[in-house]
Amino acid sequence: MMKIDTYAVFGYPIGHSKSPRIHKLFADQSGEIMEYLAQEVPAENFTAAATQFFAEGGKGSNCTVPLKELAWQYADQLTERARLAKAVNTLARQADGSILGDNTDGVGLVNDLTINHGIRLKGIKILILGAGGATRGIVPPLLEQQPSEVVIVNRTVGKAQAIAADFAALGAAQACDYTNLPGQRFDLIINATSASLSGDLPPLPKSLLHAGGSCYDLAYANRPTAFVQWSMSNSAIHSLDGLGMLVEQAAEAFYLWRGLRPQTLPVIALLNAEREFNNAKQ
Ligand code: ATR
Repeated sequence: MMKIDTYAVFGYPIGHSKSPRIHKLFADQSGEIMEYLAQEVPAENFTAAATQFFAEGGKGSNCTVPLKELAWQYADQLTERARLAKAVNTLARQADGSILGDNTDGVGLVNDLTINHGIRLKGIKILILGAGGATRGIVPPLLEQQPSEVVIVNRTVGKAQAIAADFAALGAAQACDYTNLPGQRFDLIINATSASLSGDLPPLPKSLLHAGGSCYDLAYANRPTAFVQWSMSNSAIHSLDGLGMLVEQAAEAFYLWRGLRPQTLPVIALLNAEREFNNAKQ
């Protein structure tokens, strides 16, 4: 049995995960005694690895690519936001030994946008690029903020239509394909495609952003992603990547596990400073 409260992030690959660092910084803020490990787990081993981890006394885990849908299936109970997202990024062992699945990605994004960057979502027009698992996780918490409209654009338009239809009861969600974009303008554009990871950019017309609008890439990298560069060249007020969301989703997980809300701004500032330092060195 584990002697101190133990948590882990499961993913494949996991080598570059910042989660152990982030949770250590959170724990240090309040003097919490806990351990947070990174475990490289391919999809086919996930159920066995999670079962062993919790059987040995593990208190909770984060699950990242490509395990979020498997974690959704694995959980004994789901929070409402995880049920809607059909993906779980946080597992928490309950007092009765059962495993609760939550999805803190969407609330992490909303907290970063609204609290850290002061972007008001109520009444604005939001465009989401891509219609994969990441989009499914962020649409419900975004709609909760009562934007005037959320448009999901995807190469495979049927996937965007399916997500818009699934969440129609929560607010104004529409789907379209990239050829429908010219002539439309948005206050906030969120890149939820996996294109950033390969340095690609979806086909975006030039005047897609309202004056004073902002862009947010759910992905993050040491250098500005292709979408963040597009945002800067289109004069966005904020050109943001997903580092803040990463810290905010971790804070929600920490709260679920420990009942304490860590301070996120000093952690985001530290990770950003380290990133700039490392870039300056190269
Ligand atoms: P995730 O779980 O991270 O959302 P995913 O489910 O594989 O990942 O979804 C990736 C999304 O990125 C999809 O919407 C995909 O578009 P298709 O559904 O049409 O395949 C989108 N995507 C990936 N590369 C892209 C590119 N170069 N241009 C535009 N969209 C892209």
